[in-house]
Amino acid sequence: MDIFIAGFGTVGQGVAEVMKERAAWFERRFDECVRIVGALDSSSFEFSSNGLDPEILIRRKKMTGKVGTIELKDESCHILRQFDYDVLVEVTPMNISTGEPGYSNILTAMESGKDVITSNKGPLALKFSELIRIAKRNGVQLRFEATVGGATPVINLSRELLMGERISSIRGILNGTCNFILHRMREEGLPFAQALKEAQEIGIAERDPTYDIEGVDSACKAAILANAIFDLNKTYKDVKRVGISGITEDAIALAAEEKKVIRLIAEISSKRLEVSPRLVPVGHPLSIGGTLNIIQLSTDLAGEITVVGRGAGKFETASAILSDLVALLKDKSTR
Ligand SMILES: NC(=O)c1ccc[n+]([C@@H]2O[C@H](COP(=O)([O-])OP(=O)(O)OC[C@H]3O[C@@H](n4cnc5c(N)ncnc54)[C@H](OP(=O)(O)O)[C@@H]3O)[C@@H](O)[C@H]2O)c1
Repeated sequence: MDIFIAGFGTVGQGVAEVMKERAAWFERRFDECVRIVGALDSSSFEFSSNGLDPEILIRRKKMTGKVGTIELKDESCHILRQFDYDVLVEVTPMNISTGEPGYSNILTAMESGKDVITSNKGPLALKFSELIRIAKRNGVQLRFEATVGGATPVINLSRELLMGERISSIRGILNGTCNFILHRMREEGLPFAQALKEAQEIGIAERDPTYDIEGVDSACKAAILANAIFDLNKTYKDVKRVGISGITEDAIALAAEEKKVIRLIAEISSKRLEVSPRLVPVGHPLSIGGTLNIIQLSTDLAGEITVVGRGAGKFETASAILSDLVALLKDKSTR
C-alpha cells in the first residue's frame, strides 16, 4: 500500500515515524508492504515509486525545513494529481473559511481513485456531505478519525464496533485548551485572561486563541460527529455556539458553592447540536480537569460508553490515523 503524506508538520512527521516503526508488523499482519512514496509541505515535495525512507524525510525536514528536494511551485493538489499512490494522508493546516488546501487535496485524490485519511477538520466541517458523496461516486474511502481528537477513537467505535446500537446522543469536552483554562480558573481562582495567558505560555493555546475559546474548534468537531454518527448534513455554522471568553471568576466561584464546575460541553443528537458552557456536578465524568478530552455516547443496549484521552499531540493523532490505515488494510485483505 503506497502512501502520500500531504503536510509534513507535527502530525505528518508523527505518521512517518509510526509507519517506519510498524513496517514489519504491517508485513506480518496483513502481508502488505506499507510504505511512503510521496510527501509534501508548503514549499517542497519528494516522490519515489520505490518508496521513501521516513527517517530521511524527517531528518531533511528538521535540517532544512523542507521535506523534499523538489521545489513546490504549484498548489499541492496539482502534485497529488501527477503521481500514483493508494492512500492520501491529508494533514495540512485547517482553514475554516475555505477548507483549503485540504479540500482540494482530498478532492483531487478521491477523483483519481485514491482512499483518503485526514486529520484536517476544515474540509469536513464545511463540506462533509459533498465529500462523502464524491467518495462514494469514486468507490473510495474517506476516513477521518483524527479530526475529532487524537486519542479518543469515537468515530470508528460508533460506526464500526457499535454499528448495531442506536446511539441517541453524544456529549463531551472536545477542546483541551478550554478545559485547561476552566480548570485553572477554578483551581487557582485565576481570571480568564490570566488562565489563557498561562495556556499560551505552556504552548497549549495559539497566539490567536479565538478558534478554541469561542468554541469554533469544538463546533467543527460537533458538526463532524453529527454528520458521521447521526447522518445529518451540517456544517460548523449550524452548531449553536457559545464560547468561554465571557466566563468570570464570580461564575466559577458560584458554581463551586454548589459543588459544580463549568465545562465547555458539546451536545450532539438528531435534535440538538450545541456547544456551550454548562454546570457539571463535581465527580461527574464530564467534570474532568486538565487538557483531556472526553466523549460519552448514550446507546440503547450498552447504555453509556465513555471515551477519555488526549485530544492532540504528534503520536496521539498518528494513532487515530493508524486506526484508519488499519481499517483500509483489513478491508483490502477481506475483499
Ligand atoms: N497537532 C495535533 O495534535 C492535531 C490533532 C488533531 C488534528 N490536527 C490537525 O491536523 C492537521 C495538521 O496539524 P499539524 O499540527 O501537523 O500542523 P503543522 O505542524 O502546522 O503542519 C502542517 C503542515 O502542512 C504544510 N502546509 C501548510 N500549508 C500548505 C499548503 N498550502 N500546501 C501544502 N502543505 C502545506 C506545512 O508546511 P511547512 O512545514 O512548510 O510549513 C506543514 O508541513 C491540521 O489540520 C490540524 O488541525 C492536529
